[in-house]
Amino acid sequence: MWTSKALALLLAAAPIEAAFSWSSVKTGGGGGFIPGIVFHPKTKGVAYARADIGGIYRLNSDDSWTPISDGIAQDSTWHNWGSDALAVDPQNADVVYAALGMYTNSWDPNNGAIAKSTDQGSTWTFSNLTFKVGGNMPGRGTGERLAVDPANSNIVYYGARSGHGLWKSTDGGVTFSNVTSFKNTGTYREDPSDSTGYESDIMGLLFVTFDSTSSTISGATSRIFVGVADNTTASVYVSTDAGSTWSALAGQPGTFFPHKCKLQPTEKALYLTYSDGIGPYDGTNGAVWRYDLTTSTWTNITPVSGSNLYFGFGGLGVDMLKPGYLVVAALNSWWPNAQIFRSNDSGTTWSPIWEWTSYPSMNQYYGLSTPNAPWINTGFWEVTNDEPLGWMIEALEIDPFNSDHWLYGTGLTIMGGHDLTSWDSAHNVSISTLANGIEEMAVESLASVPGGSELLVAVGDDSGFTYASSSSLGTAPASNWMAPEFTTSTSVDYAGLAVADIVRSGNSAGTQQLGVSSNGGSTWSIDYGASTTAYGGTVAYSASGDTVLWSTASQGVMRSQYTNSFTSISALPATALIASDKQNDNYFYAAYASTFYVSSNNGQTFATGGSLSGASQINYVIAHPTTAGKVYVSTNAGIYASTNFGSSFTLLTSALTNVYEIALGVGSGSTWYLYAFGTGPDGNRLYGSADNGNTWTDLQGSQSFGSIASCKLAGSGNVAGQVYVGTNGRGVFYAKGTITGGSTSGTSSTSASSTSTSHATTLTTITTSTTTTGSTATTTTHTSTAATTTSTCTVGQYYQCGGSGYTGCTNCASGYTCVAQNPYYSQCI
Ligand SMILES: *[C@@H]1O[C@H](CO)[C@@H](O)[C@H](O)[C@H]1NC(C)=O
Ligand SMILES: *[C@@H]1O[C@H](CO)[C@@H](O)[C@H](O)[C@H]1NC(C)=O
Ligand SMILES: *[C@@H]1O[C@H](CO)[C@@H](O)[C@H](O)[C@H]1NC(C)=O
Ligand SMILES: *[C@@H]1O[C@H](CO)[C@@H](O)[C@H](O)[C@H]1NC(C)=O
Ligand SMILES: *[C@@H]1O[C@H](CO)[C@@H](O)[C@H](O)[C@H]1NC(C)=O
Repeated sequence: MWTSKALALLLAAAPIEAAFSWSSVKTGGGGGFIPGIVFHPKTKGVAYARADIGGIYRLNSDDSWTPISDGIAQDSTWHNWGSDALAVDPQNADVVYAALGMYTNSWDPNNGAIAKSTDQGSTWTFSNLTFKVGGNMPGRGTGERLAVDPANSNIVYYGARSGHGLWKSTDGGVTFSNVTSFKNTGTYREDPSDSTGYESDIMGLLFVTFDSTSSTISGATSRIFVGVADNTTASVYVSTDAGSTWSALAGQPGTFFPHKCKLQPTEKALYLTYSDGIGPYDGTNGAVWRYDLTTSTWTNITPVSGSNLYFGFGGLGVDMLKPGYLVVAALNSWWPNAQIFRSNDSGTTWSPIWEWTSYPSMNQYYGLSTPNAPWINTGFWEVTNDEPLGWMIEALEIDPFNSDHWLYGTGLTIMGGHDLTSWDSAHNVSISTLANGIEEMAVESLASVPGGSELLVAVGDDSGFTYASSSSLGTAPASNWMAPEFTTSTSVDYAGLAVADIVRSGNSAGTQQLGVSSNGGSTWSIDYGASTTAYGGTVAYSASGDTVLWSTASQGVMRSQYTNSFTSISALPATALIASDKQNDNYFYAAYASTFYVSSNNGQTFATGGSLSGASQINYVIAHPTTAGKVYVSTNAGIYASTNFGSSFTLLTSALTNVYEIALGVGSGSTWYLYAFGTGPDGNRLYGSADNGNTWTDLQGSQSFGSIASCKLAGSGNVAGQVYVGTNGRGVFYAKGTITGGSTSGTSSTSASSTSTSHATTLTTITTSTTTTGSTATTTTHTSTAATTTSTCTVGQYYQCGGSGYTGCTNCASGYTCVAQNPYYSQCI
């Protein structure tokens, strides 16, 4: 068995052809929900944020963030990009813990883990749990449910979901065991009738808060508070004997669920926010309470009452330098804006961040800017002016070393500022988006246009983005895709002979869900040939740009020429894969199951094309960007190619199997590189070939892309050796390099890496910079449905089914349609 040191030596000695070096395509604005932010209480400048499906980030001194979990979410470990809690060790600024896992139901096949880093997230070790962790589940913004004893670095508590109760480590996170004396493992289920298990799971424990002012017993903090999602008996429990016995805290308010519980040590007080829902989308009532540790008394300090109290409370920031100063947020005040309250007298009195003067006029006690992500202004604040301050505000922190510095997570981004105490002096603060470096988009489709726009990115929740040239990839776009602005864009394609012509599809019923551009995706117009009931799926633009073929999610495959009304293509099964020939306007291709189809009359009719002998499942179809009639098809058995418009196919390679998205991009000289996600000699990952599929090189290296079945792929049409990977939650990565052919010598680094899975101890060491585990060639379980929250679920009438920041189920029960009410809220009606 190799130690990691031996492994490192081996890697250094081997003649490694390095895998490509990956960077994020920049949006600068996060793009999704940030349920948790944690500052180190004792060391200035150390802070972390967790995204529900997009990994963990460390704060830098210039307000930007560095991703720190990009080496731990490979194909079989994709769920490590979900985290349900973070904790720092108060006695060691280098130590950070994360509870990792995405779903507790069947969408996530693996049990969760408590990951620990002793170098601020550069490397991680894992303590596997015997149950699942739900980082993208209801209630993920409560907490934190993971905490390190401030008096003892070896003691770590984790409050589990699903009825698994309270867990404790006494060896610094190496092993965890059940605290069986903690009896209330939670009663509340958001929707007991949800057959998917997503909302019917027991919510479980909500937070673990140590009282650092209490005495120690054998070196352990004696007083510990734990929250439970239980609104029928009690929700706040206390131990005063360092976790041996537990009881409900006397005199506590019932009725609601506690979301946050924070200690102000100088005041010797706990502050708690409560909501009638578990979050993150709900809340119509709630409260804020203060518990005085000296007198054991509870005080209701809810900032508003009566008809002004139409929300629950989530985010709670407590100033550690100025006792009595705090900030609380309405979890969701959907209209007219989020609401945040400030107190400088321990909650006795409050002032709001906005208030009505004479309706509809209001005073806004803040200025707002988004220099890091101008598209948030263009695509959100300017559109409806609803909720510019955000929604789903659960994470709200005041920097423990700077009373002016505050951050809060929303459903869209991180916001905050550097003048919070101006609230007290001038009742006005400057708020900006501060998510620079956080990229947590769910990417639906990518395209790079030869001779045209370098990158088109269709995303969930934020519409999409155009990057005109390679030099713009590092600059936050001025706008997302607007007019039409689809909440989620599902597909984008270009016309191969008219490369400024772009088409894209959106996924909400109720308005036309096709946008077309004639300037490369800079500006758009609605394709009024689309019906208002067709949505989703994929689009293919004919070579000359006169015809759109659309494999919708709702109405089968349809065709429209010259923006006329769409007509159904009855020869093609619903949800068929589609592609256009990029050089011959007459040809379209389609596939379903193992059958390939061709149209030679501009998509009017389709006939069965050549057979793919040996393949039982076609996963993706692409046409060569510059050669008419050249088509590539990825399947379970390998990649097939045709040079005669799909009349016949040959098996190009079986060196890769279970091949998902494939792409062609300009290579060196006049070659085109072929890129593919599949199972090859180095496991399930991204491979590239410079010789039309004869030999394959691992291009992924230690970079994580999550599940390969949900990755999107594009080869650059303009920059030699540049390739783009779209992930389900971590945005778009790109890299550039030269593929030299010959896969064996170039991939020894990842072959070696698979040996590190043989570390048969409780801890698996993963060094993100050099190697990775979990993607061995023997791992063949694919998780395409599991990786998507939405594929197997339905919600009923009046339930939410979409909207910016929403990551729940998007399918309405039979008879109902998901209709966008505003950019943030779609409903089944
Ligand atoms: C942990 O302990 C609690 C309380 O005794 C119990 O209800 C729960 O089933 C236990 N969980 C596991 C996974 O053992
Ligand atoms: C518990 O909370 C849920 C969700 O708000 C609510 O439907 C239920 O009535 C509450 N139960 C009690 C006993 O208050
Ligand atoms: C607070 O400051 C902002 C920007 O500086 C300004 O637009 C706003 O009007 C101010 N609010 C009030 C109530 O004066
Ligand atoms: C406390 O807050 C009130 C209300 O916003 C404000 O008028 C007062 O100046 C503040 N006092 C201090 C000392 O911050
Ligand atoms: C922990 O779980 C991961 C993935 O679920 C697995 O690859 C790894 O081998 C496990 N480690 C141990 C020590 O069991």
